[in-house]
Amino acid sequence: MPSLLRRRIDRIGRRALDRVFQQAKRLPFVGDRIAAEYDKMLVEIRRGAKPYADTLPRTTELPQSGRDRDAVLADMRQLAARERDRWHDGFVSGAVYHGDDGHTAFLSQVYAAFSQTNPLHADLWPSVVKYEAEIIAMTADMLGAAHVTGKGIWSGPVAGVVSSGGTESIMLAMKTYRDWARAERGITKPQVIAPSTAHVAFDKAAQSFGLALERIPVGPDFRADVAATRRAIGRNTICLVGSAPAFPHGTIDPITELSELARERKIGFHTDACLGGFVLPFARELGAPVPAFDFSLPGVTSISADTHKYGYAAKGTSVVLYRSAALRRYQFFTATDWPGGMYLSPTFAGSRPGALSAACWAALVSMGKDGYLEATRKILATATTIREGIAAIPGCKVLGDPLWVIAFATEGLDVYRVLDEMTKRHWNLNGLHLPPAVHLCVTLRHTEPGVAERFLADLREAVEHVQATPGDKGGMAPIYGLAGTLPVRSAIGDIMRAYLDVLYEA
Ligand SMILES: Cc1ncc(COP(=O)(O)O)c(C=O)c1O
Repeated sequence: MPSLLRRRIDRIGRRALDRVFQQAKRLPFVGDRIAAEYDKMLVEIRRGAKPYADTLPRTTELPQSGRDRDAVLADMRQLAARERDRWHDGFVSGAVYHGDDGHTAFLSQVYAAFSQTNPLHADLWPSVVKYEAEIIAMTADMLGAAHVTGKGIWSGPVAGVVSSGGTESIMLAMKTYRDWARAERGITKPQVIAPSTAHVAFDKAAQSFGLALERIPVGPDFRADVAATRRAIGRNTICLVGSAPAFPHGTIDPITELSELARERKIGFHTDACLGGFVLPFARELGAPVPAFDFSLPGVTSISADTHKYGYAAKGTSVVLYRSAALRRYQFFTATDWPGGMYLSPTFAGSRPGALSAACWAALVSMGKDGYLEATRKILATATTIREGIAAIPGCKVLGDPLWVIAFATEGLDVYRVLDEMTKRHWNLNGLHLPPAVHLCVTLRHTEPGVAERFLADLREAVEHVQATPGDKGGMAPIYGLAGTLPVRSAIGDIMRAYLDVLYEA
C-alpha cells in the first residue's frame, strides 16, 4: 500500500480511537476513573512544577499600598539568583544561548533605555523602527539576499519583519502563504507539506489558520524524504517546508532539492532556520559541511531565523524574511473602518516591546561578523568533543549527522531512564520520541572550560547506572515511554493541558 495512503488510514484510525476515548470520558463511571488517574499524575507534576509552593509567600491580590521598590527588587533578585546556576553553569540544553555576564548586562542597559518604546507608534519612536529595519537588513544580507534580483512575488527584494520568536515567525509565514494562495490561486483548502521533524509551530499554524498539514516521515538519516514530498504535492499545496537544522536531531533537510520541487510547482518554500540562521553562515565560513539553505537557492521564498537564539539577543525576537516585499504584503493587517481610527500592524501583536528590538539590534552590532564567527567556532569545537564522546560510550548512539544539536539513543536500555539519571545529576536535557532519544543543543554555555567533560562523565555514569539496575522504574521515564507509545493521543493531550493549568495556579 502506498505510504501516503497508509498514513492517512493510520490518521483516521487514531482520530476514531481519540473520539471513542473522549466519549468514554463522558460516561459517569469511566469518566470518574479517568479523572482519578489524571489527578494522581497531577500530584507528581505539581510537585515538580511548583518548587516554591511551600516556601515562598503567595501574592494573589494587589497589595493595598505599593511595596518599597528596593525590597521588591531584592526579593526578585534573590529568586533569579537561585535559578541562575543551572543555566549559567551549562547544565541546560539550548534555552540560554550566550549568557555571559558582560553581554547580558549590556543588553539590559539597552533594554532600560528603551523600555517605554513601542514600534506600533512609529511616529513616537522612529529609533526602534530604524533598529527593526536594520535587524531585517542585516539578517537578510547574512542569508543570501544579494542573490535575489528582479521584481515580482518570487523575485525580490528580500523583505521581512521582527517577530516575538520562532513560533510567531513560522505562523506569520504560514498565514502569509494561505492569504497569498487564496488571493492569487483561489485555493480555499490550503495544504502545507513538512517533514515529521519540522517544528511543532507548523502544527500550531495549521490549527490556527485552517491549513491541512501533511507530515512526511523522515528517512533513516533523519532528513526530509524528497521523493515522498514530491508524491504528496497536490493542487491545494501552498508551500513546502524544510529545516536548517531541525530541532529534534539537528539535521539539515535537503533544502536544495525540496525548494526546487516548490519552484517547479510555483509554490512557496519556507526554510526554518530558527536554530541555524545565525550559525550556519559562519559554520560554512569556518569550513563545516553546510549545504545550501538560504535565498541563494532560487526556490526558497521565506526564512525564519531567531535572533533570540544564536543571534544572542534577549528572549523575545526573531526575524521572518520573504523573497519579496510583495509576498510580505500578505502578512500585514490593516483596518480602515474601525471607530478607533486607521489601524495597521505588521505581525500578530498590536503593541510590541521596542526595547527588545533595540536590544536585538545592539546584540547584532556588538557581536559583529567576527563575534559570530568566534562563537560558532567554539560551539562547533565543543559539539565535536561531545558528539565523539557520546559515540564512545558503550550503548550510546548518535542519531543522524548533526553539527551542534546532538541527539542520541541507547541500545538495549531505556533512554528515558538515562535522561532521569542525568536530571538527578542536575542536567536539563530534551527528551525526544518517535524514536525515543535525548538531545543536547550546544550553546556558548557549554563551551566554558570543563562543561563538555562534565557532561560526558555524567552521561557515562548515568548509562552505567541504568545498565546496572535494569528493573528500576520511577521518575519521568514511564511517562515519556507512555507518551511515545500510547495509541490514544488525546489522553496525553489532556494531561499536557492539565499541566498548563497547574502552571497558572498561584
Ligand atoms: C527549528 C526550530 N524552529 C522553531 C522553533 C520555535 O522557536 P520559539 O521557541 O522561539 O518559538 C524552534 C525552537 O527551538 C526550533 O528549534
